[in-house]
This record gives sequence, C-alpha cells and structure tokens, in this order.
Amino acid sequence: MTYPLFLTLHLFAALIFIGTVFFEVLFLENIRKQLPNKVMVLLEQGISRRARQLMPWVLLVLFGAGIAMVWLRYRPVLAAPLQSSFGVLLGLKILLAASVLGHFLWAMWLFRSGRMNARYVQFIHTSVFLHMVAIVLLAKGMFYLSW
Ligand code: HEM
Repeated sequence: MTYPLFLTLHLFAALIFIGTVFFEVLFLENIRKQLPNKVMVLLEQGISRRARQLMPWVLLVLFGAGIAMVWLRYRPVLAAPLQSSFGVLLGLKILLAASVLGHFLWAMWLFRSGRMNARYVQFIHTSVFLHMVAIVLLAKGMFYLSW
C-alpha cells in the first residue's frame, strides 16, 4: 500500500503545481491586457505571495513522493537507464524535474535579492510551462512508448 500512497501524493502535488503554472501562462498573461497596470501589479503581488507560501510544500511532496517511488520500484531501472526505453524516459523526466527545481530556486533568489522583473517573470513562466508539457508527456509516455 505504500507505493499507491506515494503515487497519489505525487499526482495531487503535480496537479497543484502544473495547474498553477498553466493558470499563470494561459490566464494571467492574457488578463494583463484587460486590466489597468496598478490592478495587475496588486494581483501579481498577491498571487506571488501565496505561491511563495504554498509552493515549497507542494514541491517537497512532489519531489519527496517521486524519490520514494523510484526508491521503492525503479532503482534497478535507473541503475542502467540507457538499457530500456522506460529508463531513458524516466531519466529524462527526472532531469527536467531537476531543471524545474532550479528555476524555482532561481526565482526565489531573484525575489529575495530584489532583482525579479517582468522579463524574468515571463521567461521563467514560459520555460517552466514548456518543462511541464514535456514532463507530463514523458510521465505517461514511459508506460506506452517502447523501442
Ligand atoms: C516538476 C516535477 C514533477 C512533475 C510535474 C511530475 C509529474 C508526474 C505525473 C503527472 C506523473 C503521472 C502520474 C500518474 O499518471 O499517475 C508522474 C509519474 C511519476 N513520477 Fe513524477 N513528476 C515530477 C517529478 C518527479 C521526480 C523528481 C521523480 C523522481 C525522482 C518522479 C518520479 C515519478 C515516477 C517514478 C512516476 C511513475 C509512477 C507510476 O505510475 O508508477 N517525478 N509524475
């Protein structure tokens, strides 16, 4: 029963994380054109304050459960990742997840050092969005694609 528990936690954390990134890119970027700049700044401040409270916990559960699943079931596959299509796809997924974590830490550092600006926000949003699309395709593809 431990594995399904970690899988469920992983899935819920992924829903929250992917949902937030999709909301920011697909809704917020579009709303920007319809709202006065002042309102948009207040909205973004509120969203980013909430994200900085919640996201570290979501990422902790996402990565913790992911690592636990690998530990319980996929250690042998990852010991020789190039020997199977599953290993290649799971390995790529984990590399992309590590890159997402890097983006998150970079964003936290930009906030703390007061260097975050609109250009960085847009770059980080778009890059993490593309990572999410690839991670979801890999997460499902590893069970259905083989060569
Ligand atoms: C940004 C980070 C991540 C996202 C968005 C993400 C997302 C997902 C999604 C959507 C699934 C499919 C779940 C399902 O359909 O039931 C999945 C499966 C999986 N993820 Fe992640 N993941 C992330 C990070 C990680 C990390 C860091 C690891 C391990 C070190 C990991 C290991 C796994 C494994 C082993 C599965 C397959 C579970 C199974 O069905 O047996 N993930 N992930």
